[in-house]
Formats: sequence, C-alpha cells, structure tokens
Amino acid sequence: MNAPGHQVAHKFYAGNMKDAGFLRSVIEKEKPDCIVPEIEAINLDMLFDLEKEGYNVIPNAMATYTAMQRERIRELISKKAEVETSKYLYASSLDELKDACEKLGYPCWVKAIMDSSGHGSSFVKGPGDVEKAYEKAKNEARGSGEKIIVEEHIPFDIEVTELAVRHYDEDGKIVTSFPRPVGHYQTRGGDYHSSWQMAEVSEKAEKSIYEAAKKITGALGGTGLFGCELFVKDDKVYGNECSPRPHDTGMVTFVSHQTGYSEAALHVRAITGLPVPTEERLGYNVVPMLSPAATHVVLSPYEGWDPAIRNLWKGFNTKGISFMFFGKPEAHTNRRMGIVLATADKVKDAKLKAEKATHFIEMKTRQSPEWKGQTDKEKHLIQ
Ligand SMILES: Nc1ncnc2c1ncn2[C@@H]1O[C@H](COP(=O)(O)OP(=O)(O)OP(=O)(O)O)[C@@H](O)[C@H]1O
Ligand SMILES: [Mg+2]
Repeated sequence: MNAPGHQVAHKFYAGNMKDAGFLRSVIEKEKPDCIVPEIEAINLDMLFDLEKEGYNVIPNAMATYTAMQRERIRELISKKAEVETSKYLYASSLDELKDACEKLGYPCWVKAIMDSSGHGSSFVKGPGDVEKAYEKAKNEARGSGEKIIVEEHIPFDIEVTELAVRHYDEDGKIVTSFPRPVGHYQTRGGDYHSSWQMAEVSEKAEKSIYEAAKKITGALGGTGLFGCELFVKDDKVYGNECSPRPHDTGMVTFVSHQTGYSEAALHVRAITGLPVPTEERLGYNVVPMLSPAATHVVLSPYEGWDPAIRNLWKGFNTKGISFMFFGKPEAHTNRRMGIVLATADKVKDAKLKAEKATHFIEMKTRQSPEWKGQTDKEKHLIQ
C-alpha cells in the first residue's frame, strides 16, 4: 500500500508479489498486453508459467531470473556476453572465504549472492575484516544465503550506468540504442547518491561502454530498457551488474532528454513497439541529449509518518532546477524521499546546482518535529 506508483496508475492492487495465486488472479482479470516486473522479490515460477502460456514478460522471464541474483548475472556477463568483470571466486564457508580473499588479494569485496542495495556486502581491507564480512553476508542475505562471492576491487576512475534500450526497427528487427553514459556515485556501500549525464569518459571508453552494454543486454534478450552498471578504469570497461528495467541513476534523463525520451519513456517505447529515433555517434545509435544534467537524492534525516518539506524556494528560484518528490507517507532515516534535478551548460555546474539545492531542503515528521537538513557530503563538490 502507498507505493509511489499508485499516484500515477489508473488502478492498483496491493498484494504479495511472491504469492502465485495473487499474481495469477490479477493477471487473469486484467489480461495485460505485457507484464513488466518492477521488483526482484517476485514469484519467478509464475513468470515462467505465464510466459509459456503466451504472456509477454518484459524483457523475458529468464532475464528477470538472471539479473536478480549475483552469481547468475556475473556468469552471464563474463561467460555468455564475454564482457570483462573484476576477477571473482565463490565461497560457502569461512575457511573458503579466507582462501578466496587471499587468492584475490586485498582490498576486495565480499557479497551475498542474493541481496540488494548493499545489504550483505562488505569492502574488505585486510585479513582482519574477513570474519565480519562473512557474518554480514550470512545474516543480511535475502533468501538462502549459503553462497558468497568475493570480487577483486576495481579502483575505477568513474562508475557509469548505460541505459541500453532494445527496441524494434522499421523492419521488425530488434536493435540496440544508447542514451549517453550516466555517471554516478554511491555512498554507504551501495546507495546511489548523485548521477549525471554525460559521464566524463573518453570517446574510447564511451565506445567500449556501448559495446559492453550491447553484449550484456543481447545476452539477456527481449525488448525494453536496461541499466548496465559498469566500471571505467583507464578507458577499460568492466561489467558489474545489469537491471532488466530502468535504473535509479537514470532518473537524470527526465531533464537531460526531451519529454517522451526519458529512460521510462524509452522503456515504454521499446515494450510497445514504438520507434526510438536516434543519431549516429562513434558508430552507434545514440539517443540525443537536450542538456547536461545531474540528480541528487533527497534523503530523510528521520523516521516517522507524514513527512513535511521546507526551503524549496531557493531551489525553485534557481534556473535549471526541478524537484521530484515521491509522495511516500512514511519516512525512514536515509530513505529516498525524492530527487533534485538540475541542468546547466556543463555537467559539473549541474552537479553543483543539484547538491546546493538538495542541501537547502529541510524535513520533519510527526515523530520528529525539529526541522533538519541533509548533512552527508561524502564525495560532494560542495563542502
Ligand atoms: N569489485 C568492485 N570494485 C570496485 N567497486 C565496487 C566493486 N563492487 C562493488 N563496488 C562498489 O559498490 C557499489 C555497490 O555494489 P553492487 O552494485 O555490486 O551492489 P548492489 O548491492 O547491487 O547495489 P545496488 O543494488 O545499489 O546496485 C558499486 O556501485 C560500486 O560503487
Ligand atoms: Mg549495483
């Protein structure tokens, strides 16, 4: 109940997405032209069954199944798509984990196979951190947490999301088009904090980004927009993971692209068979941008119901700033309540504007009536 999407949907049903009976009852009642799974915690057996019965699952049941789990998506990226990833090993016990960390060297990353948004993941600086990382991966994993992945740390120059879109061309053939790479940074070990377009990468890296995204999304198949998370180091591109749907960092396209070409609109175009007109760039079909742009998340400083917001005036009074609030009725500490979007002539100025406008904002809730702003300035341009 109260999911942000309800505010814009014509209809909604609230229920348990793992419950096969619930899913089937809604689908048989609505007879949808396509089924677009928007979350990973969903009954996959039911998706496979529905696909077999002729329903159009976006992008397809197998891609949804693969992308939701670290081992499956990792194997797809490195083996099926043949895109380079960080070196990695699996472990099922503390001893195996210690071994794997030694083999890959420090620092490294220890992650539960089944998790999301950084739960169950640790950045391991040395042998002394391994046991704690093991406990975390075991305890915070979503679903059965017996298997752990250890990854070599890539000291990347920048991390990007490539919002590759697989859609039909005039001849009914599936082709891939590419919004310009989105740069972003994560805080607290895996929460998107700010994103911008275009990412500051060389033309050589940009081409490698399109090529890697083409291979990864080709291996996943189907139509729709995907969020390929990639690391860029010295113009070399490493695959990390890929969402078979629009990506949170891609919300920047709501202002960097023309209306009807945002990541969400491109997803709809691809799914419904509408065209995606592009321009040629570096030998690829690229979605044109209107302006350099950036986003910054608005996080709640508090727990509590009925969040209120103030100090928007300064932001509204800045050229190129807009806000999106998600209308969530309940706040949690560091819950994403909205985003600030900014455009400017240069991407750096857009980032700076978005940061400034965000840090003016103050919030309170029923339970915490003191106004408070966002103070975390890790990796920011403003200090
Ligand atoms: N091998 C690595 N080398 C360097 N940085 C890494 C590595 N693995 C993860 N990170 C950093 O941690 C972040 C989160 O990792 P990852 O995307 O694998 O986890 P996640 O839990 O799926 O996060 P989210 O759900 O927010 O995408 C990455 O975006 C990156 O900044
Ligand atoms: Mg990620």
